[in-house]
Amino acid sequence: MSSTATKEGWGTRVGLVLAMAGNAVGLGNFLRFPVQAIQNGGGSFIIPYLVCFLLMGIPLLFIEWSMGRFGGKFGHHSTPFILDSLAPKQSLWKYIGVFGIFTNIAVAAYYCYLESWALGYVWNSISGTFTGLDRTGVANVFVEYTGLNGPQPYFFWLICLVLNTYILSKGLSGGVEKVAMVGMPLLIVFGIFLAVRGISLQAGTNGAEFNGTEGLNFLWTPNFDTIWSPKVWLAAAGQIFFTLSVGMGSIQCYASYLREKDDVALNAMSAGWMNEFVEVVLGGAVLIPITVGYFGIDGMKALVNEVGGLGLGFRTLPYLFQQWGPILAIIAGVAWFGLLFFAGITSSLAMGTPVMGFLQNEFNWKRGSSALAFGVIVFVLGLPTVVFFQYGVFDEYDYWAGTVSLVVFALFETILFAWIFGIKRGWAEIISGADIKVPIIFKYIILVVTPLLLGWVFVSSLPGIWDQITQVKLNNDLLTATGAEAEKIKNTIFFQNISRLLLLALWVGIASLVYVAYRKRKLNENVHNNVNA
Ligand code: ALA
Repeated sequence: MSSTATKEGWGTRVGLVLAMAGNAVGLGNFLRFPVQAIQNGGGSFIIPYLVCFLLMGIPLLFIEWSMGRFGGKFGHHSTPFILDSLAPKQSLWKYIGVFGIFTNIAVAAYYCYLESWALGYVWNSISGTFTGLDRTGVANVFVEYTGLNGPQPYFFWLICLVLNTYILSKGLSGGVEKVAMVGMPLLIVFGIFLAVRGISLQAGTNGAEFNGTEGLNFLWTPNFDTIWSPKVWLAAAGQIFFTLSVGMGSIQCYASYLREKDDVALNAMSAGWMNEFVEVVLGGAVLIPITVGYFGIDGMKALVNEVGGLGLGFRTLPYLFQQWGPILAIIAGVAWFGLLFFAGITSSLAMGTPVMGFLQNEFNWKRGSSALAFGVIVFVLGLPTVVFFQYGVFDEYDYWAGTVSLVVFALFETILFAWIFGIKRGWAEIISGADIKVPIIFKYIILVVTPLLLGWVFVSSLPGIWDQITQVKLNNDLLTATGAEAEKIKNTIFFQNISRLLLLALWVGIASLVYVAYRKRKLNENVHNNVNA
């Protein structure tokens, strides 16, 4: 299954699908999804979520897989020149393609830190850090960890960066695929174990006050109260983007290593549905039922508002596991944080490949040095998320790269694919080599529905984006804050602005490299033409 243009390639079809599923299945499935569901009304979130999956998620998977395979035919392995190959006469598309490298690097910058928490917490679960601690004690471990009290957070973060760099330097079949083949099945086993524990929690046993199944009912009882709320739809759409890793540029990159005749339709569906199984079935059956078992529905909602998804996963769950007895607490801790770690690393590896493909294609870098470049860039860009975590750097990166950028890129690439490359050619790409019959309805969905929905999501997000740009909430809070609180808000505003500058510099830096690469290509073409003349 290797591309004709490079030596890089996938070893087996199972490996490819697991790597693609690993790209999608991430921390978002277990931490972000439950929180979005809780904050948006449980049963009223699921319907918009599934509609967005059908009308935006699946079409975007088809678009990105086939676009990637198409660009790979010409030896392109990152979105600037993959997009360029779809519209070679319109030179601006390659700059839209910059988003497909930018987003991956910027998300990796904070994502790898999160991944390292999971690794650190596997260690803390095994070494008994949480044993005998009360709820405040367990929460304090998290406060100390993220407050960088001691060397652990740095240590595990560096281990994660080295691991990512090393695996990437081993290539797709020799590194990424092997990790996916081990990590994905393990993650599913861990997830099933925790889901069974969560669902079978009984009021009155193990300190639980409610049945775990009440959490499932909360998620699965259809509720039409807020079904027309734009806020719920925006949250559902945002979750679909983040969880499937669409609008990022990593799917195109992985797919660009396919051969011309390889299937994309069935592969895309297999990876996409596997992600949905892990997110909705497993991701929906761990955090929510366990938390509901101890705090009830209202308690869980209050807790989410207080500590967020990360807080629930890292400050609350390790304490709840302690209620299951010492041995089970260790097993559950290893399963939960191990699962998060595997989910994280199979996604961050995918974030490394676009920039590597770019450096290898355009500047003839070797695999090892381009993997090292990714590691170094993520270190430099990630350091502020580690050191100034308390001042919202992490959240700022997540907002611009993990939320806004995905929508912008997805909107433009869909317009390019359906309307400029043309739906006729686009559809031919999707069904070429397909091992399933793709329902023809998707041709029209891709042509009309997906771009309209994406346009709506983008336009509806504009007021929120403007508020974020002008830091409305922080400035309002500052009006009434005094003393240390006012100081913290001022620092947050400062570090948000620094984060924005860093992200902007990253985007401009990549765009400049794309420009240089483009000039180099033109020069080479001219030399080639002159020699042949
Ligand atoms: N798709 C990845 C996740 O869900 C980024 O975390």
